[in-house]
Amino acid sequence: MTYSEKITEAANIIDTQCGKAEIGLILGSGLSESVSLDREKTLPFSSIPNFPISTVSGHKNEWVGGTLFDKKICMMRGRFHFYEGYTPKDLIMPIYIMKMLGVKILIVTNAAGGVNETFVPGNLMLIRDHINFVGVNPLVGENMDAFGTRFPDMTQAYDAQLGDLAHCIAAEHHLDLKDGTYLWLSGPSYETPAEIRMTRLLGADAVGMSTVPEVIAARHCGLRVLGLSCITNMAAGISQKPLQHEEVLATGQKSLAQFSLLIREIIHHL
Ligand code: HPA
Repeated sequence: MTYSEKITEAANIIDTQCGKAEIGLILGSGLSESVSLDREKTLPFSSIPNFPISTVSGHKNEWVGGTLFDKKICMMRGRFHFYEGYTPKDLIMPIYIMKMLGVKILIVTNAAGGVNETFVPGNLMLIRDHINFVGVNPLVGENMDAFGTRFPDMTQAYDAQLGDLAHCIAAEHHLDLKDGTYLWLSGPSYETPAEIRMTRLLGADAVGMSTVPEVIAARHCGLRVLGLSCITNMAAGISQKPLQHEEVLATGQKSLAQFSLLIREIIHHL
């Protein structure tokens, strides 16, 4: 079966079980519970043919279809990471499935380590741009012309209008929304303090182990993207505390209410 046949098969099952959608939402580590939809229909990733399975705790591993403010949404509670051993093509399969379901706008979220020293754990950050520091591009290989061009533009990877909308909503609700550049590292080990100093020199405000391949694929197939990071911890070396996945999940939990409000209101105004 070719890659595009695999996508089509998965998309057909999801369409039958969970329905089409205009907005796609990917909920990252510890954020799985931040949004619930009206009339939710859920499908475990394990019931979707050809679909990878996330192995990380803090990820619920289900596809959810439903509505919010009468808009059709599809949502992933959990996602796939490069460090789990998936191929770059596996990581982006959900994006093409969303495209086939009719999605026009993708909202990606993640837990990230704060590199910008003005940030504090619990802050939310609008992703204005990214740096792919993994050195792998998920579009390598034969181009799927039906989805997009061989050489997609990344000048406006993150939609400026959607970003401005997020800031307006944050201001209206007195939420402190930061702005920044997200740098993708493979993980699964956290960074060394020297690596974090390097990422700061490169212009990163936050680092994390996801999101960038999904955004590259989303731009390839013409989706508008809004990216939000929850700064769950300050990155290595900023405080002397060792980093732990449990802390990442716990901070994510504490920010859940703010996060949920922001995402719901953004969707309301789309
Ligand atoms: N580094 C990389 N990824 C992360 C971090 C971090 O400090 N926190 C949450 N995801």
